[in-house]
Amino acid sequence: MAGNTQPAEQLDERYRVAGATAEQQQAVDVLTRQFLLTDERLGAIIKEFRRRMEVGLAADSTMLKMVLSHVVWRPTGQETGSYFAIDLGGTNLRVLRVTLDGKGGATSVHQKFVLPEEAKKRTLFDFIAQCVETFLDDHNMRPAASEPPLSIGFTFSYPIDQKSINSGTLIHWTKGLSVPGCIGRDVVRLLEDALLRLGLRVKVAAVVSDTVSTLLAAAYSDPAAQMGVIFGTGTNAAYYEDVASIAKWKGADPASGEMVVSIEWGAFDSEEFAILPFTPHDIKLDRKSLNPRGQAYEKMISGMYLGEIARNIMLWLADQRLLLDGRSSAILNAMWSLDTSYLSSAAVDNTPDLAEIRQIIEKTLDVPGSTLVDRRIFKTIAILVGERAARLSAVGLVATLTKRPDLLSKPITVAIDGSMYEHYPGFACIMAETASHFIPEGQFKNIRFSPTKDGSGVGAAVIAMLATQQQQQ
Ligand code: BGC
Repeated sequence: MAGNTQPAEQLDERYRVAGATAEQQQAVDVLTRQFLLTDERLGAIIKEFRRRMEVGLAADSTMLKMVLSHVVWRPTGQETGSYFAIDLGGTNLRVLRVTLDGKGGATSVHQKFVLPEEAKKRTLFDFIAQCVETFLDDHNMRPAASEPPLSIGFTFSYPIDQKSINSGTLIHWTKGLSVPGCIGRDVVRLLEDALLRLGLRVKVAAVVSDTVSTLLAAAYSDPAAQMGVIFGTGTNAAYYEDVASIAKWKGADPASGEMVVSIEWGAFDSEEFAILPFTPHDIKLDRKSLNPRGQAYEKMISGMYLGEIARNIMLWLADQRLLLDGRSSAILNAMWSLDTSYLSSAAVDNTPDLAEIRQIIEKTLDVPGSTLVDRRIFKTIAILVGERAARLSAVGLVATLTKRPDLLSKPITVAIDGSMYEHYPGFACIMAETASHFIPEGQFKNIRFSPTKDGSGVGAAVIAMLATQQQQQ
C-alpha cells in the first residue's frame, strides 16, 4: 500500500489552518499528504485501471466485471411511443411512463418513492411491485385482463451478470442493500414474481444498469453520446465497446458491431487494495461496512461514503485532543451520522465565523462549543475528502476514454448524473481539470461532459422500446 509522497513544504497554502496550534497543523499536514494525489500517482492508477478493464473484457469473474449489457443499438431520436420504466437507485425508486416524441425529446409522468430501510434489508422486490401498483392505479393505467401485459424497462443499479437483455443474476449488493436470498438469482424473475403476487401483468423487456440507461437517454437526443457515468450514492460507468475487443463475448456479432459495457468500476482495487490511496480512515470505514474489501474505488468517491470518511477523521483528531478539545457525542460516535451533503455545505461555507459549519458540528452532530479553528479544520477535511473523490473520479473517465482513442478524434458526449456530480462544490470542475492532464489537448477539446439529470428513467424506456422492436423483427 504505497503512501502519497508529497513533501510537506510543497503543500498548498489552502491547507494551512489560520490560528491552529503547531500540533493541529501537523495533523492537518498528515491528512493533506494522504489525500492530495500527484499526477504521477494518478497516472499509475489510470494505467492499472486500463489493465483491469482488458482483463475484464477477456474473462468473467474478475475485479472489473465489464458487464455485457446486450444493448447493441443506438437510438436515432426518431423513435416514438410510450413506454414504462422502473428506476431503482441507491436511495430512491421511480416509476415512470415515458413518451418519446420522435425528435429526441421525451416527457414523462412519474412517481418517486424513497427506499425504506425495510426494503433495503428485506422486502425490496415486494416494495417495488407495490410502487408499480400504486403508480398504475393512481394514473388509471392498470392493464385489463384482456389486454397484453405491460412491457417495462427496469433500471437496476446493482451489479448483475447478464446473459440476455431481460435477465441478470445479482453478483452482490452495494450501497447499503442487504436483502437476503437474491445473490445468484435473476432479478427480473424476482421482480416479475413479486408483480404477479399482486396480480399485475407486467413483462420486463430489458434490465439495465443506471449507467447504461443514462447513456441511452443521452443518445436519444445526441448521436455523439458514448459514455454514461454515475457519481451518486454509488459510482459506475458504461460505454460503447467494439465487439471485436470483447474476447469473452461468445454470441453472434451484432450488426452494429458494438455493445454497451457496464464497467462496474466501483469495484476497482477491491479485495487487493493494491493501488488506491488508502488511509487509515478508509480502512476503518471498509472494515465496518456491509461489504468489507468490496467496492474499494466507490468507497473513496461516492456520496454514500464520503461523510463517513470525514467522521472517522474527526474522531481521529478528537482522540488526540486536536479537535473540539477532545469532545465527541453519541451522534458523532455513531457510524454514518455525517451525511455527505454536510460536507458539500461545509466546503463552501465562506461566512466569517463559518456559521454553517457551526450548525453542523453543534446542532447536527451535537457537539457544542466549537472554536473557529475547529470549524476551519472541519472545512479543510471536507475539501480534502471531496477533492480526492473528484480527482479519483477522473481515473475511470480517462482510462475509459483513452481506451477508444478512435472516438476521441471527433466530438463525443459523456452523459453524467448523480448527486456528487450535481451538488458537490467543485466536483465537476476538478474532475474535468484532472482528466485534462491525461488526455492530449486536441482530443480533450472534443469531449463534452453533459449533466443528464434523471436520465436513467428515460433511458430504460428507450431501451425497452429498442428491445421490443428487436423481438418483433
Ligand atoms: C453499483 C452499480 C451502479 C452504481 C451507480 C454501484 O454501487 O454497483 O451497478 O451503476 O452504483 O448507481
